[in-house]
Amino acid sequence: MLCGKIILLLGLGSFFPRLAAAASGTLPIEALRQLITADPRTSRTIMWQSKTPLENCRLQYQPADGQNRSLPVTMESLYEDRVHNYYYTAYLHDLTPGTTYHYRIWLGNIATPWQTFTTAPTAINDFSALILCDSQCGQSYESWGHAFRTVWQRHPDAHFFAIMGDLVDNGQQEWQWQNFFAAIADVLPRHLFVPIMGNHECYSLIWKFCRPRRYELSYNLPANDSPELQNYYYSYDYGPVHFMVLNTQMLELKDIHPDLLARQKAWLRQDVKNHPAKWRVVLMHKDILAYDEYQEGSKTMMSISDVGYALMPLFDELNIDLVLTGHMHTYRNRGHIHHLAPADNGPVYIMSGPCGNQQYNVPADKHFDRSAIAQPTPPNYLLLSVQEEKLTITCYTVDGEFIEKMEL
Ligand SMILES: [Fe+2]
Repeated sequence: MLCGKIILLLGLGSFFPRLAAAASGTLPIEALRQLITADPRTSRTIMWQSKTPLENCRLQYQPADGQNRSLPVTMESLYEDRVHNYYYTAYLHDLTPGTTYHYRIWLGNIATPWQTFTTAPTAINDFSALILCDSQCGQSYESWGHAFRTVWQRHPDAHFFAIMGDLVDNGQQEWQWQNFFAAIADVLPRHLFVPIMGNHECYSLIWKFCRPRRYELSYNLPANDSPELQNYYYSYDYGPVHFMVLNTQMLELKDIHPDLLARQKAWLRQDVKNHPAKWRVVLMHKDILAYDEYQEGSKTMMSISDVGYALMPLFDELNIDLVLTGHMHTYRNRGHIHHLAPADNGPVYIMSGPCGNQQYNVPADKHFDRSAIAQPTPPNYLLLSVQEEKLTITCYTVDGEFIEKMEL
C-alpha cells in the first residue's frame, strides 16, 4: 500500500500502465527539441509544436537503468501568417548529473519514438560545444540542414550547440520556421540547443520591426529578472564556463522595449556576481563592429557599432573573457580589445557565420580585424573547446576547411 501511495504521489499511478504498450500511429508533432536551462546538470526543457491542439499530452522520461517518470505539459498558441501553431513545454528538474535519459511524448495511447538527452556531469573541466550563426535561408533550408548534419558528424561529442541569431530570414513567416526545423528534424531531438535572438527574428510579415512573438513562444529559456523580457536574455553554467546570452536588438525593439539595454546591463552586473566562474563567455547576435552597416547612434559606418559602444565598456568592467558574435555573415578575429582601443587585457572578440545560404562580401576593418576569412565567405562555424586551463576557439568551414585556432 505504501509503495502504491508513493507511486501515486509521483504522478505515475494511472499513467504508467498505459506506457507499456504504445498503439501504432504517428503523433502530429513537429520540431521536438531540448533547450538549455540555467543548470544543465540537473534540468532540461523539452519543447515541440503541432498545428492542432493536442490536449493532455505528456512527456515520459527515464534514466537508462531507472524508473519511469511522466510530466504534464504546458501549451501556448499563436495564430500568425494564417496558421495556428501550438507550442508545448515540459521542464524536467531534479535530474541526476552525468546521466543519459530516454524520453518520448504521449497522446492517448500513442507515443513518439524514444529520444535521449544527457545531463551535464557534476564536475566537468573538459568539453566542447558548437557555435553556429545566421542559419537564415532564402527559398530553401536544404543548405542549413546539410550544414547542421555535417558539423555533427564531424564533432559528434559536442555537448551543446548554439545558434547565435537570425535563425530564420523572417521571424514571423510560417514557411521559414517550418523549413528551419524540418531540415534538422532528424538530428535536433538528440542535441542540447542554445537559441539566441537575432534581428531577423524581429521582422514582421511586411518586413517592419515587430515584437518577435514566434521566437518568444518557440524557446522557453532560463529566467532573467524581467518577466516582460523573458526568453530575450539569460545565462547558464556549463563546467567551468558561465555563458551569458545577450539580446542586441535595441534598434529593432526600441518602440516595444526601450529599456532593453538598461535592463540587460543591470542584470549582467548582478549575474556575473551571482555566478563566479573560471571563464566568462558572452554570446550575442550583432557584432561590435559596424563594417558597412549604417549605425543610427554614431551616424557612421565602419569601426565600432552601436552595439559595441553600448556593451564593450561593460564587458571590460566585468572581466569577460570572450565575446562571440555573428550578424555580418563572415569570420573575423580581433583578439583582445580593451576600452575601445587595442590592448592585451580586454575580452577577445570573434565573429563567425553564416550557416545558411546567405553569403556576403564584407570589407575588413583596418583597425580591429587581426584575421579574416577569404571573401565571399563560405558557410562556417566555431568549435569551442574547454579544458581546465585552456579555452580554444576553432573556426572551420562547413566543408571542413580549417580556418583558424585561438587559445585563451
Ligand atoms: Fe543579423
